[in-house]
Amino acid sequence: MKYLLGIDLGTSGTKTVLFDENGVAKASATVEYPLLQPKNGWAEQHPQDWWNAAVSTIKSVLADSGVDKQDVVSLGISGQMHGLVILDENYQVLRPSILWCDGRTQEECDEITATIGKERLIQISANPALTGFTAGKILWVRKHEPEIWAKVRHIMLPKDYVRYMLTGELYSEMSDASGTNLLDVPNRCWSEEILTKLDINPEFMPPLLESADKAGTVTEEAAALTGLNVGTICAAGAADNMAAAVGTGVAKAGKAFTTIGTSGVVFAHSDNVQIDPQGRVHSFCAAVPGAYTVMSCSLAAGLSLKWFRDTFCAAEIEAAREMGVDPYNLMNPQAAQSPIGANRLIYLPYLMGERSPILDSNSRGAFIGLSAMHTRRDLLRAVMEGVIYSQRQNLDVLRGMNVVPETMLACGGGAKSPFWRQMMADVFGMPVQTLTNAEGPALGAAILAGVAAGVYESVPAACEKVVVGNEPQQPDAEAGKAYEPFYELYCQLYPALKESYAALAKM
Ligand code: XUL
Repeated sequence: MKYLLGIDLGTSGTKTVLFDENGVAKASATVEYPLLQPKNGWAEQHPQDWWNAAVSTIKSVLADSGVDKQDVVSLGISGQMHGLVILDENYQVLRPSILWCDGRTQEECDEITATIGKERLIQISANPALTGFTAGKILWVRKHEPEIWAKVRHIMLPKDYVRYMLTGELYSEMSDASGTNLLDVPNRCWSEEILTKLDINPEFMPPLLESADKAGTVTEEAAALTGLNVGTICAAGAADNMAAAVGTGVAKAGKAFTTIGTSGVVFAHSDNVQIDPQGRVHSFCAAVPGAYTVMSCSLAAGLSLKWFRDTFCAAEIEAAREMGVDPYNLMNPQAAQSPIGANRLIYLPYLMGERSPILDSNSRGAFIGLSAMHTRRDLLRAVMEGVIYSQRQNLDVLRGMNVVPETMLACGGGAKSPFWRQMMADVFGMPVQTLTNAEGPALGAAILAGVAAGVYESVPAACEKVVVGNEPQQPDAEAGKAYEPFYELYCQLYPALKESYAALAKM
């Protein structure tokens, strides 16, 4: 039996899973790391934390599984998108990474739009200049930290850094590069035009591969640290969402998934580039060579519930610790005690500003309709409903582009809750399915590793072989009707608050 390693470099932590060639997980390990928020709306992480987490999770899964390292033929990495990692001439990290959910770069994005032209930028990079994307972060460092910028020789994305630490070779690949605003997405190459106009040295950008290409092998030094064999093949890997697509079998047209992880994503596969002229949803290269994706990204989906847990649920956290269960298992039944509409309370999940579909880094979270009669249960249910309304609003944008999925796969930590999944089915008005193997991005990364090492013939063929769905959860039409007016009101709230958010941001 051959084994494949999938490393998922997320925002709350890194999860590494060892799979056999049938996609069965043999061992899994997660290490969390902090999200640094030095200012309201900023978000950073130390690349060294990612590397330490990769090393210790690889070591754990090798030890826990008892699998001989000779049989681990390859590994793949899936990574949080957009984060800026900069290295000097000695390949040393120059500053903490500025992350996908960091909103500091509106000024730089306006500058990029003015320099390239809004339409031209969308034509080339398939997306408008967005604060979450990498190009604005590059310009921000150049403007605000010139002494650091002077030392920059290599620019890369989070998982490219961890792969570099494993292999000593620097590459990027199409799916993650699509989220930089610097890739010519239709032609799958760095855009000379954008790099020249923004005055970014093209030599700073790593060579590009497709996700399932081989991108080097494990070095002696990395082997000594991780316990892997020297020479283990590393696949280029993919951005987390595109890896999740592979791991959930969303590798052909008509298929879609929704992730509730730290961010919320509604994702559909497409054989051609499809662009929303308003830029409300993203168009990216898929991890399937030559294919594309349309996806939304909301910045605080699972993060909203995590924020609620950490801020208001100390008792549940303590009780869960004693019982050896997940605190969310104790929170779900409480939310279920509040009725649909949370006793007329609506939550807007814009804790980190918002991308899809409102594109406003000034926006912030809100409870609308708060009354003295509300209890913590209502607030909790409102948070869960607000997150689902936000995904529905994005699904409606996709539907408006004629990307109309038939069933929806649910992924991410949020998909573990049957209560939240049923809410999704009811609010989306469509069946929601989970998979027998819920390791989405890690499995996707392992599949890419398997293709790179010749274990599988192609990405779609591997998906057919290893991705198996459970019986879908059907929408409840009555519940769907009850949610509808709250959803409609939810959609009206951001436009009503837009000016107030802008004023608040200036204070
Ligand atoms: C996608 C995005 C997020 C991150 C989360 O554009 O920013 O989904 O990839 O890890």
